[in-house]
Amino acid sequence: MPVAIVVGIQWGDEGKGKVVDYLTERASLVVRFQGGDNAGHTVVVEGHKTALQLIPSGILRPDCRCLLASGVVLNPFSLRDEIASLQAVDVEVSPERFGIAGEVQLILPYHRAIDAAREANRSGGKIGTTKKGIGPAYEDSVTRSGIRFCDLLNQPRLEELLARNLEFKNNYLKEVLGSDEQFEYQSLLDDLLKLADQFKPYLANVSAEVNSAIETDQYVMFEGAQGCLLDISHGTYPFVTSSNTVAGYACASAGFGPNRVDRVIGICKAYCTRVGGGPFPTEDHGEAGETLCKVGNEFGTVTGRPRRCGWLDVMAVKRAMRLNGVESLILTKLDVLSGFDKIKIGVSYTLNGEVLDDLPPSSDDIEKVEVVYEEVPGWKDDITKARSLEDLPAETRSFIARVEELTGCAVDGFSVGPDRAQTIISGEPVKQFAKV
Ligand code: IMP
Repeated sequence: MPVAIVVGIQWGDEGKGKVVDYLTERASLVVRFQGGDNAGHTVVVEGHKTALQLIPSGILRPDCRCLLASGVVLNPFSLRDEIASLQAVDVEVSPERFGIAGEVQLILPYHRAIDAAREANRSGGKIGTTKKGIGPAYEDSVTRSGIRFCDLLNQPRLEELLARNLEFKNNYLKEVLGSDEQFEYQSLLDDLLKLADQFKPYLANVSAEVNSAIETDQYVMFEGAQGCLLDISHGTYPFVTSSNTVAGYACASAGFGPNRVDRVIGICKAYCTRVGGGPFPTEDHGEAGETLCKVGNEFGTVTGRPRRCGWLDVMAVKRAMRLNGVESLILTKLDVLSGFDKIKIGVSYTLNGEVLDDLPPSSDDIEKVEVVYEEVPGWKDDITKARSLEDLPAETRSFIARVEELTGCAVDGFSVGPDRAQTIISGEPVKQFAKV
């Protein structure tokens, strides 16, 4: 049985959740390996929408167990609300269905306050974070001052760590960031102890579970959040999230060997979007960008912010393929391109007159690149009812074929709408993951 990693290969919001949901009918484990409640997935099954932020999309498959690996940052208050909202629509989130690694770092209210205050204090070059406290929580992880899920479950340890952290964070908020937000030890501790009681049964040895599932030939899926170009090491720094979003991090976070991975599947929107600040070479500031935003309903699931929209960027896709080892692309939201006379594809970049073979490391340089576009014929037909490649108009199939040629990667599936039924897996290497 296969081990697969699904990653976004643009700036997030590629539709990973929906593809993971589709591909996990037969999965034993679905493991989230980075990020936190900055992510937002909407999965639609027979017209019924479910919003997910932390819990892997596999939760909608009754036989699938979902895990949060050590590299995730967990806001226990958000998790409590997410579990309640899933249970309200009869999705079971019992300790049999869902587990959390003891090593997971917690996001606490002061992380969110720090994130918001820093964004407010930045005069220019705002990152445009989700203000969920992601960066400050990862910071505590690397400075070795963070509070982890296993500490939440150990009252004396929690008391000690919380007292130490609160003193420092309250001081930092007030004196350095000029924020009015202060947090009171006893009330925060009381709230956390209540959550500890609720979450104790979810404690899991994720690395042991993952390795044993692999050893016993079960199907394990790793679900990435955000996208490759938001990766802390390889993305458009500093306009990135604070975790490694690339496929390789699945191994580090969940604690298993890279030799175990069978396939990396890259989820790629048929055009491109970005939310927040930072370079976006193929952004379209005109009518086309507006149309993509409107037709694609490109508003952040977590923050509601309108997403910046533009055309597919082959240079960015190729970089992401290389960084992740992507061998199959799933092209999502193809239906949003219906109605354009011509569809643009960004095929290469120049900087100061020189042709580039990759994105430069500096965001200042990426801001300055000029994109060379190619135009392909569009199509007018409504493709939302297509259920196979053959159902698509010739122009749509040519567009897919051109993406394959330009990226050098097989397009093994596509989606033509938000519903589970509108995801079509057409390529053999990915078919093994879906029950088709
Ligand atoms: P943070 O992850 O909240 O620190 O935000 C850092 C950057 O990543 C900002 O530009 C966010 O808009 C972006 N970002 C974070 N999570 C997502 C996501 O799930 N989809 C798209 N962009 C995201």
